[in-house]
Amino acid sequence: MSYTKSARYYDLLYSWKDYDAEARRLHELIQEHNPGAKTLLDVACGTGKHIELLTQHYDVAGIDIAPEFVTLARERNPNAEISQADMIDFELDRTFDAITNLFSAIGYVPDEGALDRTMATMAAHLNPGGVLLVEPWLHPDGYTTDHFGSLFAEDEAMAITRMNIAERKGDLSIMDMHHLVGSKDGIDHFVERHELMLFTHDRYMEAVEKAGLTASHDSEGLMGRGLYVGVKRKS
Ligand SMILES: C[S@@+](CC[C@H](N)C(=O)[O-])C[C@H]1O[C@@H](n2cnc3c(N)ncnc32)[C@H](O)[C@@H]1O
Repeated sequence: MSYTKSARYYDLLYSWKDYDAEARRLHELIQEHNPGAKTLLDVACGTGKHIELLTQHYDVAGIDIAPEFVTLARERNPNAEISQADMIDFELDRTFDAITNLFSAIGYVPDEGALDRTMATMAAHLNPGGVLLVEPWLHPDGYTTDHFGSLFAEDEAMAITRMNIAERKGDLSIMDMHHLVGSKDGIDHFVERHELMLFTHDRYMEAVEKAGLTASHDSEGLMGRGLYVGVKRKS
């Protein structure tokens, strides 16, 4: 599992991300596509930061496959219903006015069939008129292997350096993330492999349409990766 050990460092590693601005934009987009929407499911919710910010507007639930993230998201959002589930094939006993799938979590599906199944599963959890917002991973022509990635973050208790070489096998991007975590207790080194599929823009649009939703694309999105929008027809 990709995030087994790093989950507890996730918020620090991504402290550069502007979750407030993202939540404001999400609320605008949801109300634009489904005015009056009141319920929201965040699929692959991570530590539950979007959930926390969106509870001021919505009755919010979440799922994530990693038990470490489910625990962290529940701690942050004690009143939200957060379950451990696989986005490819989950079944909740309720439907929602809006569903989000953010920060490239969709890229973790293993192949095109799983992409279609994930879109269909999310679409099945939408109410009529409901809106799906999916923030993709990179496209095949946008991922290069001629560089390495690096990130540094620190707070009063620890400092983390994360580095990876960008590798690729066909349309699979592979990143072995080397973490160095330093605190007064010592310095820990561990590696986590992240494998994300590179789907084309057309394939994302096709997957949204195949799920029975009316697809559109917001090229700006939340942080420059774009956003796929699917709306469920009312009848
Ligand atoms: C980059 S994080 C994004 C987390 C959160 N949405 C955010 O914006 O901070 C990717 C998330 O996808 C989750 N994930 C990966 N594969 C999954 C799957 N098959 N089903 C549900 N969640 C999955 C991971 O556990 C992780 O929380």
